[in-house]
Amino acid sequence: MSNTVCLCKGVSEETIVEAIKNGAKTFDEVSEKTGAGTGFCHASRCKETILKLIDENK
Ligand code: FES
Repeated sequence: MSNTVCLCKGVSEETIVEAIKNGAKTFDEVSEKTGAGTGFCHASRCKETILKLIDENK
């Protein structure tokens, strides 16, 4: 079961972790690869979680 991290864009934790494992090292890189953080809330709901996932999976 995979959590949705970016609610605006419907991007799952699994997708974000995969992007990190494929070389994304910053919020902007994850955002570019997955679309996460580009929704109407401008990442106010997902940025913190994405940064945490980068930290945990780098
Ligand atoms: S929840 Fe990710 S951009 Fe809004």
